Amino acid sequence: MSTDREIERAASIIKESKAIVSLTGAGISTSAGIPDFRSPEEGLWQKDPSKMMLFTDVGFAADPKGFYEFGKELLPSFQGARPTLAHRFLARLEREGFGLGCVITQNIDGLHQRAGSKNVIEMHGGLSTGRCTGRTCSKEFTLEDILQKVEEELPPLCPQCRAVIRPNIVLFGEALPEEAYQRALESLKDCDLLLVMGSSLVVYPVADMPEVAMGNGAKLIIINLQPTQYNGRADVVINSSLDEAARKLVKALGTTL
Ligand code: OAD
Ligand code: ZN
Repeated sequence: MSTDREIERAASIIKESKAIVSLTGAGISTSAGIPDFRSPEEGLWQKDPSKMMLFTDVGFAADPKGFYEFGKELLPSFQGARPTLAHRFLARLEREGFGLGCVITQNIDGLHQRAGSKNVIEMHGGLSTGRCTGRTCSKEFTLEDILQKVEEELPPLCPQCRAVIRPNIVLFGEALPEEAYQRALESLKDCDLLLVMGSSLVVYPVADMPEVAMGNGAKLIIINLQPTQYNGRADVVINSSLDEAARKLVKALGTTL
């Protein structure tokens, strides 16, 4: 089936849905210049699987300097990023009475919020703040604090207790933020459409969310370049770039960006 036919079907499902939830992953930010993890060639873990270790709880504790050295390489792509058409499309669906209740994201880049989405649930934390890892120290840091410290020493250390500072992101091996997770599950209970955009749907427990939504009777639309484990069960799969899909959906829905 051609993509245009899929776009029409997706638009009509969006129009008839009353409670939409979107689930997004790194693919929604690639056109903003931030690499994803598993795209062929450009994905960070595809290019160098050993780097993934740094993003585990154990790996970070063992080599915080290596984590920050890699982080410093990636930083310019985050700093230069602007919300994409697809981010703006989701903000529009929330604002314009299309029934989008929230965006559940695995991304840490803050681009949904910058695009104007109000109800964003960050499943893997966010880059905008950090905290001291010292056991008895609870000092919090802004991204600006951390960036300044990173210029002075690697890894950056807490001025109060000299323990390593970490960003407030979820590392592999760590639990998801409980409050965010509960809010996400609540929204999935009530939704009648889950719109997945730019995720390989392989990292759990987020990868279970389409299952949860469908179990509650929701329809499923997936927009992603690579196939996912849910493609065979989705109501519509749009296999194209997200920005192109967003542009076409906006037109099919009779709105603008
Ligand atoms: P992945 O890199 O696993 O998947 C991104 C998906 O987006 C891929 O399937 C791509 O095909 C697709 N994609 C990339 N660019 C696209 C575009 N312009 N248009 C359409 N599709 C596009 O990223 P996530 O699923 O977000 O976790 O990864 C999940 C988690 O794994 C991340 O949150 C991170 C990572 O390790 C932690 O670090 C804990
Ligand atoms: Zn401290």
